[in-house]
Amino acid sequence: MATDIQTPNPVKNNKAGIDLTLDYHAHILPGCDHGSNSLRTSLAQIAMAKAAGIRTICATPHFYPDRESVGAFLARRQETYELLLPELDHDDPAVQLGAEVLICESMERLKDLALLCRQGTNELLLEMPFYRWPDTIWDTMYQLHEMNEISLVIAHADRYPPEDIEQIIQEGIKLQLNAECLTKPLRRKRYLRWIEAGCVQYLGSDIHQLGPGYRDWEKCTKLIQKGLGQEKNKRP
Ligand SMILES: [Fe+2]
Repeated sequence: MATDIQTPNPVKNNKAGIDLTLDYHAHILPGCDHGSNSLRTSLAQIAMAKAAGIRTICATPHFYPDRESVGAFLARRQETYELLLPELDHDDPAVQLGAEVLICESMERLKDLALLCRQGTNELLLEMPFYRWPDTIWDTMYQLHEMNEISLVIAHADRYPPEDIEQIIQEGIKLQLNAECLTKPLRRKRYLRWIEAGCVQYLGSDIHQLGPGYRDWEKCTKLIQKGLGQEKNKRP
């Protein structure tokens, strides 16, 4: 049984300063959201993570503020975590608790928002909408960014229009990328540029069910470890 919360590897094993043994964004709690439909699926996901060299997984089930309270979500998350925990072996990746929080208008007023931060930190993994962000959503994001008790991390920044992300970068807000984004040669250069500039703090699998979440993890981490300089040299 793995009960210890491992602090993410402090040794930054690449010049981008990203802990490549930490999966910052994963849907692995059995039945907590649509990421895993059973304990069996969760254990298979964790086995894949382990094989990919991951030592810590942050479990980030979806939190939709229009569907439930923070308290109800946390109770549900704890329940599913307790189903998983006794099944983990001592050499399995450690599982931390977090949430992928969908932004909604005026969210800065949501009670207990800080309880959704990644365990032991003040980092809130924020999911932006997949439609053009209206001014009200931008306003909310800026309000959240100004809150002292939380520090924003934008979930899967590779899935949004790059011009919006460039604006977020200007604000000094941290980014999480899905590792698979580096497998796309057309866009890789942009993501490596963000990584190189120190705008990306975390990689995630964003694994759902037994999807391709960890398939390219090793390839991507090797690319980060070795490829940054090469991409830089290739740049016009
Ligand atoms: Fe996700």
